[in-house]
Amino acid sequence: MSALLFLIILQLFPSSIFALDFLFNSFNGFSNDTNITLINDARFDFSVVRLTNDSNQFSFGRAFYPTKITMKPSSNSTTISSFSTSFVFSVLPEIASSPGFGIAFVLSNTTSPPGALASQYFGLFSNSSATVAPLLAIEFDTGQNPEFNDPDDNHIGIDLNNIESKVTTSAGYYNSSGGFVPIRMRNGENIRAWIEFDGTNLEINVTIAPIGVSRPSRPTLSYKNPDIADYLSSEMFVGFSASKTEWIEAQRVLAWSLSDTGTAREINNTNFPVFEPVSSSSSLSSGAIAGIILGCVVFLVICASGFYWWWRKNRLEEEDDEIEDWELEYWPHRFSYEELSQATNGFSKEQLLGSGGFGKVYKATLPNNTEVAVKCVNHDSKQGLREFMAEISSMGRLQHKNLVQLRGWCRKRNELMLVYDYMPNGSLNRWIFDKPTELLGWDQRRRILIDVAEGLNYLHHGWDQVVIHRDIKSSNILLDSDKRGRLGDFGLAKLYQHGEIPNTTRVVGTLGYLAPELATIAAPTSASDVYSFGVVVLEVACGRKPIDMSCPEEEAVLIDWVRDLYGNGKALEAVDQRIKGDYNEKEMEMILKLGLACCHPQPHRRPTMKEVGALLVGEEAAATPADLLSGLARDESGITDGGDRGGDFSEAPPQVLLSHN
Ligand SMILES: *[C@@H]1O[C@H](CO)[C@@H](O)[C@H](O)[C@H]1NC(C)=O
Ligand SMILES: *[C@@H]1O[C@H](CO)[C@@H](O)[C@H](O)[C@H]1NC(C)=O
Ligand SMILES: *[C@@H]1O[C@H](CO)[C@@H](O)[C@H](O)[C@H]1NC(C)=O
Ligand SMILES: *[C@@H]1O[C@H](CO)[C@@H](O)[C@H](O)[C@H]1NC(C)=O
Ligand SMILES: *[C@@H]1O[C@H](CO)[C@@H](O)[C@H](O)[C@H]1NC(C)=O
Ligand SMILES: *[C@@H]1O[C@H](CO)[C@@H](O)[C@H](O)[C@H]1NC(C)=O
Ligand SMILES: *[C@@H]1O[C@H](CO)[C@@H](O)[C@H](O)[C@H]1NC(C)=O
Ligand SMILES: *[C@@H]1O[C@H](CO)[C@@H](O)[C@H](O)[C@H]1NC(C)=O
Ligand SMILES: *[C@@H]1O[C@H](CO)[C@@H](O)[C@H](O)[C@H]1NC(C)=O
Repeated sequence: MSALLFLIILQLFPSSIFALDFLFNSFNGFSNDTNITLINDARFDFSVVRLTNDSNQFSFGRAFYPTKITMKPSSNSTTISSFSTSFVFSVLPEIASSPGFGIAFVLSNTTSPPGALASQYFGLFSNSSATVAPLLAIEFDTGQNPEFNDPDDNHIGIDLNNIESKVTTSAGYYNSSGGFVPIRMRNGENIRAWIEFDGTNLEINVTIAPIGVSRPSRPTLSYKNPDIADYLSSEMFVGFSASKTEWIEAQRVLAWSLSDTGTAREINNTNFPVFEPVSSSSSLSSGAIAGIILGCVVFLVICASGFYWWWRKNRLEEEDDEIEDWELEYWPHRFSYEELSQATNGFSKEQLLGSGGFGKVYKATLPNNTEVAVKCVNHDSKQGLREFMAEISSMGRLQHKNLVQLRGWCRKRNELMLVYDYMPNGSLNRWIFDKPTELLGWDQRRRILIDVAEGLNYLHHGWDQVVIHRDIKSSNILLDSDKRGRLGDFGLAKLYQHGEIPNTTRVVGTLGYLAPELATIAAPTSASDVYSFGVVVLEVACGRKPIDMSCPEEEAVLIDWVRDLYGNGKALEAVDQRIKGDYNEKEMEMILKLGLACCHPQPHRRPTMKEVGALLVGEEAAATPADLLSGLARDESGITDGGDRGGDFSEAPPQVLLSHN
């Protein structure tokens, strides 16, 4: 009976049964095939879909919604459905002047179009003009291929089963007064696109705008042609495709919504990761003429100053300071010593921001007025430096809004200079313990903890290698101009392949933040980072240092003190008096509990950063707060029991804990 009813409904509303309507504000936690189907080199990269693989020469990748969209009720029907879609993408070449490729939004009868080629074919089209399968693409092309009549290296086009576009237009949008505002699609900027496909009139409208600009009313490109129908099959896969050759270009999809019953749902534009060119020194791509002029100027300057440099070099540098072969591998991020010296006024005292265990940090202003921080690290051997560089260079590819971005490096003999984004608000400890000019309220503190959790989650889980930070502490958490938290100083971090057991002989880190197991086995893991993060959580909530000898003895070690109070049901007494009344007590108790859970003496009982992040954000994660924190019941041993205390540093041999590099 009900089956019959279903059949009748099916007959009455053939298309609405298969209606698609989805909104992905991030691809965090997605799995292949159940949520998005990834083909070839495409992968989930933390919260985004990354389409190509940097290490494969002819790499291409596609990402499709796993269910096909119904374009016609039956294969020989003339009725064609409409849909509306919106997405956010970012295209970032490693070298700004390299030939680009771009990204394509695609409707295809198959997830693997036959004969599809990489490079300028988007991993989608073949080089033959014969129609192989129904295929329609909207290209966001960041390279100019004159053989395909591309107008420039930054255009949008409609492709009907052929890489040669039916129509193209330069990338940009029309503003409210009708003026055309160009958009550069290949500098990593997050760009929002809207596509309206009108099946009744066979019209496609494409609109793009940078994130933050509201939807322009006039589309960038409008294409109307009955021929479109010839490139559609009754059901089609819908998604994205991109490819590359030697030149590395990161094509990312950050968010996507689609509806075939109405307007695509609104994407929430806040909180997207930011992708920026790593080195500003390679952005000299404004064409051949500029290149020639620049070349002449450079030539003259070289002639004029050549003799001077030669003279100076001979005079000042007996020692060989040549660039070694291996350094060329990491070339795109390299700054010259002169450039950095100039930017820091010759590493002058006035520019000194601080000096830590690893060397001095200077504030610098690059010629394009960008402010950066230059960290000078001394290293004893060139071999060690080379290994270090391999790591640093991979870390230069780490990009996350909650990490202090590494922009480049420079070597001068055995001194390495690392160039980071400059963080105008300094480090978190100054805002919590020292007498800050302005008190951070609980909302701001909580926001910073979430930021750090997200950054650390990215290091642990968001990348193809697990990155252990090893020195999480409040002085390594920097505040950007909006006082948002960013995790800095990867100087200590080492990279491990996923699943590999890390081994190391030296304990590094900072007293007060070190997980207890490090005193005995000296092998940092992501769990020991979680421990340090837990200490930071308690610091921020309680507004005091992890070890404070000026307190009464039983309060000197923060973790132990909070744990004791918690055991007696008085956890809130530990909270920073300065933010009294500024917080919700239930939430504060949860945060303190979370901090203690992170500091669990047994590494395997600590939550992962993924779980911590979900809890802080208040999202419904795989583990509910109750599950996650169940190990923390007041009467349970390990937490409130004094016998196996994680935070009791007095039992660990101090020389191990203190061997700071
Ligand atoms: C992925 O798909 C599965 C199965 O449909 C669903 O349970 C899960 O919620 C989806 N995950 C996300 C992050 O949307
Ligand atoms: C994703 O799943 C599809 C279909 O099962 C499979 O063909 C493809 O190889 C998978 N991709 C990745 C990257 O695992
Ligand atoms: C890129 O491809 C290589 C080999 O083809 C593979 O070993 C590597 O894991 C891939 N990288 C990513 C990030 O998928
Ligand atoms: C195509 O249309 C004809 C009538 O125009 C119909 O007889 C036939 O069954 C249709 N074929 C399919 C596959 O729908
Ligand atoms: C589309 O794909 C289906 C199966 O994947 C196939 O049966 C059909 O012939 C294809 N349609 C066209 C027009 O190529
Ligand atoms: C198309 O590409 C294939 C594979 O790269 C190549 O062998 C063939 O010569 C190309 N054909 C044309 C017409 O360019
Ligand atoms: C629109 O863009 C034009 C230039 O393309 C500019 O002159 C004009 O000021 C802009 N109008 C608004 C309202 O932004
Ligand atoms: C596409 O844009 C044109 C011109 O602005 C407009 O007339 C038309 O209604 C639009 N179509 C859709 C489906 O948005
Ligand atoms: C967008 O997301 C942020 C947090 O990620 C949230 O605070 C905000 O309310 C959301 N905006 C809308 C319109 O949903």
